[in-house]
Amino acid sequence: MPWRRRPFRGSDIARAINIADLREIARRQVPNFIFEYIEGGAEDEATLRRNRASLEALRFVPRTLVNTVGRQQRIELFGRECAAPLIVAPTGGNGMVHPLGDIALARAAAGAGIPFCLSTVSTVRLERVAAEAGGRLWMQLYVMDDRKVAESIVTRAAANGFEALVFTTDANVFGSREWDRRNYRSPGKPTARNLLDALRHPRWLYEILIRHGVPRFENFASFLPPGGATALGGSTVIPKLFSPSITWDDIGWLRGIWPGKLLVKGVLSVEDAVRAAELGCDGIILTNHGGRQLDYCVSAIDVLPEVAQAVRGRLTLLVDGGFRRGSDVIKALALGAQGVMLGRATLYGLTAAGERGVRRALEILTSEIDRTLGQLGCRSVADLGPHLLRGSPSRGA
Ligand SMILES: Cc1cc2nc3c(=O)[nH]c(=O)nc-3n(C[C@H](O)[C@H](O)[C@H](O)COP(=O)(O)O)c2cc1C
Repeated sequence: MPWRRRPFRGSDIARAINIADLREIARRQVPNFIFEYIEGGAEDEATLRRNRASLEALRFVPRTLVNTVGRQQRIELFGRECAAPLIVAPTGGNGMVHPLGDIALARAAAGAGIPFCLSTVSTVRLERVAAEAGGRLWMQLYVMDDRKVAESIVTRAAANGFEALVFTTDANVFGSREWDRRNYRSPGKPTARNLLDALRHPRWLYEILIRHGVPRFENFASFLPPGGATALGGSTVIPKLFSPSITWDDIGWLRGIWPGKLLVKGVLSVEDAVRAAELGCDGIILTNHGGRQLDYCVSAIDVLPEVAQAVRGRLTLLVDGGFRRGSDVIKALALGAQGVMLGRATLYGLTAAGERGVRRALEILTSEIDRTLGQLGCRSVADLGPHLLRGSPSRGA
């Protein structure tokens, strides 16, 4: 992949000039099985590769001799300004790469003036994130077989001032991340080889497992059996909890218990996008879960033009999957998205250097967005449109 062509040798994040450099620093901080947890996708990883290929297949047709002094990349989401067209996506198990990782991500997002979405399977309780990070907080919801878990999370998120609920619908049946399964000899128990690798990363071992204690799924630990809440190898433990019984009827149930904005994360078809609009959802996130769920799936960017045409103006339209460059973000905005969620890009920053690393990731991306706007002859995101792009994203491999 071009975005990670030249391995970065240094470890100083101030010298990291792109997300690939941060990824390289991150890779060296943690045992390989932890890095694979962030990095990998489901089964053959065809969806994972597709996310990058679809973005890379798009080319710009810039306009020239346009004065772009005073460029700005602000957008509005739900009537409030965001300093950049970015949202930090929900990622579970963040405490495995950095102690109190959820707080670090939330603080960096707040500092950059963008929303942060906390995962249901976070390793810091939502109350603590609200108290210690501030900023604009969204809450991601997995609905598990025991619906009381969801009710507890929704009620607590509302009481703690979270602005939006992001209902993830593409994990009704958990994806098979084969490398993750191979890294454990039984659910939650790393293989001997991985334990040895952990010993070769003493700083990680001390900071993550000893000093702060093994991270746990703090948001719903009380619903899990004793010893079942540890996040080490969580993706081999929690899949059984997810509920294949979720349906569109659950939108009505959530509306009844959640007073804020409601977004559906997991839409990829025009039919589902229209359905979400008809049911009065405030937004949708076109996503394939970063290639971690259904394999051989289209990417968000493949379907974005047709979905944008069908639901434009009826709800807020966000996308994610494979965004590693500011130019990727600009492509999505030009095709009709209002904002882009960042998964691994900010996780690399978190793994590399905690809150400072996430801030660096956001600095890199916002400066790339600004530069791309200028080079395209645009002064703001309002000037973007499909006329600036050539090539069909669906021709990606
Ligand atoms: C390590 C990891 C954990 C994730 N955990 C969650 C989660 O708990 N809930 C969720 O809705 N999505 C989760 N996702 C998916 C992200 O929210 C997002 O859709 C995806 O990462 C976007 O792709 P990208 O990583 O290529 O940017 C996770 C992704 C990663 C990489």
